[in-house]
Amino acid sequence: MEFKLMPGGTINGEARVPGDKSISHRAIMLGALAEGTTRVTGFLEGEDALATVAAFRSMGVKIDGPEDGEVEIHGVGLHGLKAPGHTLDVGNSGTTIRLLSGLLAGQSFDVELTGDVSLQQRPMGRVIDPLTRMGADISGPDSKPPLRIRGSKNLQGIHYDLPMASAQVKSCVLLAGLYAEGCTSVTEPAPTRDHTERMLRGFAYKVKQNNGVISLSGGGTLKATDIDVPADISSAAFFLVAACIAPGSDLLLTHVGINPTRMGVLNILSLMGADITLKNEREVGGEPVADIHVRYAPLKGIEIPPDQVPLAIDEFPALFIAAACAEGRTILRGAEELRVKESDRIAAMAEGLNTLGVKNEVLEDGIIIEGGGTIGGGVIHTYHDHRIAMSFAIAALRAEQEIRILDCDHVATSFPGFDALARGLGLQISTRAG
Ligand code: S3P
Repeated sequence: MEFKLMPGGTINGEARVPGDKSISHRAIMLGALAEGTTRVTGFLEGEDALATVAAFRSMGVKIDGPEDGEVEIHGVGLHGLKAPGHTLDVGNSGTTIRLLSGLLAGQSFDVELTGDVSLQQRPMGRVIDPLTRMGADISGPDSKPPLRIRGSKNLQGIHYDLPMASAQVKSCVLLAGLYAEGCTSVTEPAPTRDHTERMLRGFAYKVKQNNGVISLSGGGTLKATDIDVPADISSAAFFLVAACIAPGSDLLLTHVGINPTRMGVLNILSLMGADITLKNEREVGGEPVADIHVRYAPLKGIEIPPDQVPLAIDEFPALFIAAACAEGRTILRGAEELRVKESDRIAAMAEGLNTLGVKNEVLEDGIIIEGGGTIGGGVIHTYHDHRIAMSFAIAALRAEQEIRILDCDHVATSFPGFDALARGLGLQISTRAG
């Protein structure tokens, strides 16, 4: 599938973007391992979250839905999963494979995990290392999928100092810790999204946090609960940037998750001069939520504060478009993790920006973007990365010529219905089979 965008437009109206991907994955995982029935609303019906649903169904968990964002998970308890009988293919989903690696390391059966071409290139040494230290038997060719996990290992609690700021690795270790003897603890080089910790507590599992050390003890039980998944701030980010860069825009995004560990995009846009206000702030099932009002405002280039990098890690493709439209230079450093996402996002974005005539300099761990110049048009390669596709779609609002974006099928991993919603809000987008 390809996107074609006519240049120009404004973004106006009110919308609720699909459910949070990170929270949707965790709702299925913890719901499956809980005692009792967990009811979820606002679930993301995107391919990544559906891959997690399929994996647990293959391990004997009855899951009804999703239908209109509602899912019912009939939990089997921490020791109730069954051997799947085939390799679990989790498609494009890094969160599924890394969190499942932790959960499955403590089971009594063997399992193999794999994914699509993109996932098979992504580094898994970061989960293999701590799990091996806990006593797990997990390996993959060149530390990449397919991952082979042998069961019936007695896991031991460890303390793990995360070498990189990664919520997936943190969550993997904590989830393995549910099956380990004694205490499992982690420290992070910088705070990352804490949905696992919050949701474990929501399922009545004790998670401690002391002086930056996050810990839990194995051998407890999870108690089913109801979960209201907020709209995904990472999906909202495309429209936040869209409204910021298109003169005349005025947009309200409702029920968006504003967990402080995900707020980087709002903080960075505000530093750039964006006109963003939070309304109706509330807490829903342990996660802070708000409606976000954003109006067009001229942006200026900034040096992105290093502490905001892990808090905005998935939003940089969209933020690079904001930087291209901002007056002056934007500098990002300390973001080497962008190179191992669904694509090498520094390289893929730099290539697309070059196509549109936006001057930039690639750094090993970031990029320098010279904003405020003319944005042209052209053909964009997404490298099968959903966020690259959606970012260049919004760039069209300030482009002078048509933009064609190839290989947009992966948009459905996180944002099913992106094109229709974008069209409704004012983007001049059409799709066609590639
Ligand atoms: C996620 C953590 C982040 C993020 C990903 C979702 C999660 O990955 O990029 O989209 O749900 O835990 P890393 O842990 O690799 O930073």
